[in-house]
Amino acid sequence: MLSPLVSNTRKTSTPGRDNGDKYSVLLPTYNERENLPLIVWLLVKYFGESGYKYEIIVIDDGSPDGTLEIAQQLQGIYGEDKILLRPRAKKLGLGTAYIHGMKHATGNFIIIMDADLSHHPKFIPEFIEKQREGDYDLVSGTRYRGNGGVYGWDLRRKLISRGANFLTQVLLRPGASDLTGSFRLYKKEVLESLVERCVSKGYVFQMEMIVRARQLNYTVGEVPISFVDRVYGESKLGGNEIVSFAKGLLTLFATT
Ligand code: GDD
Ligand code: MN
Repeated sequence: MLSPLVSNTRKTSTPGRDNGDKYSVLLPTYNERENLPLIVWLLVKYFGESGYKYEIIVIDDGSPDGTLEIAQQLQGIYGEDKILLRPRAKKLGLGTAYIHGMKHATGNFIIIMDADLSHHPKFIPEFIEKQREGDYDLVSGTRYRGNGGVYGWDLRRKLISRGANFLTQVLLRPGASDLTGSFRLYKKEVLESLVERCVSKGYVFQMEMIVRARQLNYTVGEVPISFVDRVYGESKLGGNEIVSFAKGLLTLFATT
């Protein structure tokens, strides 16, 4: 018979602990040496506490600041089963970094997030619970619903993000509140089928993914998140990315 002592030492049961599902977290990095140790530590902490199976795949694009060496050290600390390194020789863009990482993922779910601490790993258990609640094909973090929000952005950045969301909402009516955010959880086969259909490569990729998800009648769950602007390093979103976003949006408008 189990003594009460034994059962007390077990963690209180929360729905959906390790039941065979595995979550592959894709972390694209370009010059994130200050941020990577902390984001990895937080991921290990929250996955450890919640008990879900996971792996972290770091896709570094030849960062001149030596992010890859930091990632190698982290692999030494946390183990090769937890930290996978799938670097590329040079900066080839965010969209293709996800695709590259996805090919190496062994989980049946994929989580995409930024490595600069703008996306807090504490939300991941909520993404997972939401996904299970409705068996959603994808769960999207939203800054524009419920308690979601943006912290630390200047007016220009806020206007760009709101503007991009607003224009896309009007032109494409995708039925999700945050189209340009990139904190998401996908069923692996859903991500694969979306990626096959996506034409854009840069930042506009996020928006195209959710628009295509809608077309293919995939179900989308949302979790309000707070996005906190990075403390270390710089955003790679420049004028070029804004122009290519606009082009991508018009292409989608014309073709969908
Ligand atoms: N491997 C790789 N290659 N990683 C990259 C590249 C690249 O070419 N460009 C950026 N990254 C990584 C960064 O190191 C970071 O982990 C993440 O991708 C996001 O890049 P940021 O430069 O921090 O993006 P941001 O903060 O300006 O933009 C965020 O908000 C946008 C609007 O909401 C991102 O979440 C975007 O995806 C989002 O569209
Ligand atoms: Mn950022």
